[in-house]
Amino acid sequence: MINILYISISGNTRAFVQNLVAYGEKQHAGNTAAPLIQAKEISDASPDFQETAKFFCFVPTYLEGGNGVDNGTQEIMTNAMREYLEYGTNGQLCLGVIGSGNKNFNNQYCLTAKQYAAEFGFPFIADYELRGTPSDVQRIYQTLQDHSK
Ligand SMILES: Cc1cc2nc3c(=O)[nH]c(=O)nc-3n(C[C@H](O)[C@H](O)[C@H](O)COP(=O)(O)O)c2cc1C
Repeated sequence: MINILYISISGNTRAFVQNLVAYGEKQHAGNTAAPLIQAKEISDASPDFQETAKFFCFVPTYLEGGNGVDNGTQEIMTNAMREYLEYGTNGQLCLGVIGSGNKNFNNQYCLTAKQYAAEFGFPFIADYELRGTPSDVQRIYQTLQDHSK
């Protein structure tokens, strides 16, 4: 079993994670050694909770101001995920972060995931744009397995 925590404001990350869960079920049906994926959505309404199992974090990018290189950017919308990771030892249980965003943002593409990795000390392991593609689902399913070992 692979655990995922994600946050989604406009639904892209939710759709990607749902596709990943469905892909895991399909893989598992063909080969029981292929792990299932269990996903939990974090939002402003999520109560503080100390996780007990290791997990991966999926976070889209919402930034205000700055250019992502030499001046500051302000995280907006996804703060509930940051606060959840800061709670108890949750950040230490995170095996890695998968970022998403839109490449039109150039240097700020997936920057929130990169900032989480730098701040919490877990690796930035993959990225995809918007809702991702079937090949992104396949690639990231493999990446999660590689980083679960
Ligand atoms: C106000 C706003 C700011 C955004 N800023 C960035 C950004 O700095 N970098 C980036 O890669 N994507 C940025 N995006 C794109 C989102 O990360 C992208 O649409 C993502 O798929 C949204 O995920 P969600 O639908 O799960 O909330 C921004 C989108 C909005 C609406």
